[in-house]
Amino acid sequence: MTKKIAVAGKGGVGKTTFTALLIKELMRQEKGIILAVDADPNSNLNEALGIDIDDSIANILEEVRVGDAVPSGMGKDSFTEYRLSQVIKEAKGIDFVQMGLPQQNGCYCYPNNLIRMYLERLQKNYEYVIIDNEAGMEHLSRRIVADIDMLFIISDTSVRSIRSAAKVFELIQVLKITIPEVYLIISKTGEEGIDGLKAEIAKTGLDLIGTIPYDTQAVAFDFEGRPLVELPDDSLSVIAVKSIMEKAGV
Ligand SMILES: Nc1ncnc2c1ncn2[C@@H]1O[C@H](COP(=O)(O)OP(=O)(O)O)[C@@H](O)[C@H]1O
Ligand SMILES: [Mg+2]
Repeated sequence: MTKKIAVAGKGGVGKTTFTALLIKELMRQEKGIILAVDADPNSNLNEALGIDIDDSIANILEEVRVGDAVPSGMGKDSFTEYRLSQVIKEAKGIDFVQMGLPQQNGCYCYPNNLIRMYLERLQKNYEYVIIDNEAGMEHLSRRIVADIDMLFIISDTSVRSIRSAAKVFELIQVLKITIPEVYLIISKTGEEGIDGLKAEIAKTGLDLIGTIPYDTQAVAFDFEGRPLVELPDDSLSVIAVKSIMEKAGV
């Protein structure tokens, strides 16, 4: 059975960092083939994983919407399937797909439905599907990625981002998206700990599964543009993510 894990939260809280380290640990444990989905147009999950990309699902949506790129005699669905196979970047132990930024506000219902159908089918080939979401949860609300088994909502130590995590949780309930396990993670914690945030965290109604300390090594890697998957196993954030995964039973 494929396990689908999504990561959400306000911009800049550490979603991509957590996602990359979760994938790093899954790969280290050789838990099976992973499909990583970068669903945040402002994200660079591929860089955090050290994977080069030059194509996205958004390109396919646009091509199907405009129609010019679809060869005559080829149905839009065959074209979508063919382009999707091109968009998926295969690396060792992991396949990667970038959702990208829709080029217009126009109606993408038809291509969206096609993409949803193929992604749904594609996902079955993997042990894990890991989705780095954008702050607005567009893909979740449009049901592009359905049937999430586990959602990690990330917050940093600011009250604003904890409230934003609460909003994500509310949205899921309003949209009646059923996710069996939803957890809160507080990232970039300092020596002062998170005791001062307890009341705010309690208000979210979320289950706090763990914290990730502020990790200067992770910052240095980002500064140098080095893939986060290359962080040493004893770095603070790697150890924290590993412990969260154990607790959540990933
Ligand atoms: N545990 C951490 N310790 C220190 N800095 C972090 C940590 N996690 C993320 N960051 C930094 O915070 C910034 C945003 O992280 P990122 O993972 O890209 O967030 P998001 O995907 O939520 O926008 C980056 O500069 C990153 O280096
Ligand atoms: Mg990101």
